[in-house]
Amino acid sequence: MRLEKYVATSGIASRRSVKKSIHAGLVTVNGEPVLVPGHPIEVGIDTIEFEGKQVEPLAEHIYLMLNKPAGCLTTRHDERGRPTVMDLVSDLSDTIYPVGRLDLETEGLLLFTNDGNFAHRLLHPSHEVEKTYLAWVKGVPRDEAVQRLRAGITIPSGRTAPAKVKRLSVSKDGATAKFEVVIHEGKKRQVRLMFKAVGHPVIRLKRVRIGNLRLGSLPSGQYRLLTADEIAALMS
Ligand code: URA
Repeated sequence: MRLEKYVATSGIASRRSVKKSIHAGLVTVNGEPVLVPGHPIEVGIDTIEFEGKQVEPLAEHIYLMLNKPAGCLTTRHDERGRPTVMDLVSDLSDTIYPVGRLDLETEGLLLFTNDGNFAHRLLHPSHEVEKTYLAWVKGVPRDEAVQRLRAGITIPSGRTAPAKVKRLSVSKDGATAKFEVVIHEGKKRQVRLMFKAVGHPVIRLKRVRIGNLRLGSLPSGQYRLLTADEIAALMS
């Protein structure tokens, strides 16, 4: 395995700082600094140290969050060669896959793992994990329209469950409004179809929370490994 991948996957530091530390001679293989990120190592045989700390062999499972940009597909492979979320994480591992999906133009928090049990638990409707979205919509929905969204509304795939819907702001020219929407279902294009049903199409959509996990300030297009506490909280 490549040295850089081994160290980054262990979760000891972000991929970017791993690369920097390798170039700075702060990563050693069997006691010798190695300056080449692609240097091959034998997992379980070579001893790797990162800034003086021994790097434990890879965890069996990988869990990470990506800040998905608009315009990339949530799929492992696109036959037509269009950009996919895998392009943004495959330097870390090619065994991981996205947990659920965000549609092409939706941005924000997307989880990846290679732990089928974790993915199953998060996606199963009976677990009702809450997800928070920021939605920018055309026009300014009236209170009555917001009430309908809160109560549950009919979209082509059925009736939505009650949701928390809060108006956060209105643009200066009154042409658009920004909402926070909390749902626990995963109907296809749910948030977009909910606002469409009340006559206010979504122009931008971003997921910022899944359960107790927040996207925070992770830049668009970047990923980070989840901490052990974050994984445990999502599983509980
Ligand atoms: N709701 C949508 O409309 N799109 C998503 O990607 C997620 C939720």
